[in-house]
Amino acid sequence: MGKTPYVLKETRGRVAYCACGHSKKLPHCDGSHKGSGVGPRVVNVPEDRTAAVCACGRSGSQPYCDGSHKNV
Ligand code: FES
Repeated sequence: MGKTPYVLKETRGRVAYCACGHSKKLPHCDGSHKGSGVGPRVVNVPEDRTAAVCACGRSGSQPYCDGSHKNV
């Protein structure tokens, strides 16, 4: 888990972000969750944009950052 968010460009469409922590392509899901009982957080991105994706695991707006990492 990181202490600051992943700031990245999202492309319009479905995006699957890792929720299990085992992906080798964080913050994106790479299928490594299979068998863990935890699946990815899938979002529909309405337009191309820059986003801050939670890396600390404490955001109340998963998969996106809500600033909670400032209290880690
Ligand atoms: S690899 Fe972590 S949820 Fe898919």
